[in-house]
Amino acid sequence: MQKITVAIDGPSGSGKSSVSKEAARRLGAAYLDTGAMYRAVTWHALDAGTDLADADAVAAAVKAADLFISTDPDVEKVTIHGTDVTEAIREPFVSEAVSAVATNLEARAELVARQRAIIAAHGRIVAEGRDITTVVAPDADARILLTASEEARLRRRGLQLGGTQSAAELEAQVLARDAKDSTVVNFQVAADGVVTVDSSDLDFEQTVETVLEAIKAQAA
Ligand code: DC
Repeated sequence: MQKITVAIDGPSGSGKSSVSKEAARRLGAAYLDTGAMYRAVTWHALDAGTDLADADAVAAAVKAADLFISTDPDVEKVTIHGTDVTEAIREPFVSEAVSAVATNLEARAELVARQRAIIAAHGRIVAEGRDITTVVAPDADARILLTASEEARLRRRGLQLGGTQSAAELEAQVLARDAKDSTVVNFQVAADGVVTVDSSDLDFEQTVETVLEAIKAQAA
């Protein structure tokens, strides 16, 4: 099959992960969730008692991380230093701490290098995150920014978390995290040549189809 690299960025609650994973399946491609890499190194730093306020210590921990992430869209698996953290990295305590890694430029450079190596090792891959279209793979065959209105994003995040959090709590968490993350990567506005897909009024299937059409149009 023809080689193809697809880059997808977007904020939390845009449906980026589930849509990218399904697009990868339908393209017969590998799938890379770069956010899971940020989460795994954050989990490890917390577990090891690394002071997250110490930028040098955080960067050193990321550089030394023995990190594995599955690129099979049907197998979700992340390990760090041999510990399976697939489930643990989705816990709120990781979500709350992850910006300490995501805003650390040395840590980012290390993870970007690893992400580029993973992408290069695959013939066909869909990679998603916040800086894939702009930094990790700016020359990807197809580049998409998946957006959704604030209202739609909060609604989806609430459903994902099982409706256990109040609207105010959700708003504080999701929007505060996006605001912190936006200080180092711009994933709110499409860069030149990046196609925007707004999923606010689309269901899952419609979003997947729209993304696949955008990929076809760009990679043709
Ligand atoms: O998509 P997510 O919620 O799993 O991402 C986790 C965190 O990592 C989030 O704070 C944004 C950050 N991130 C990033 O800065 N760059 C990426 N390529 C992917 C995620």
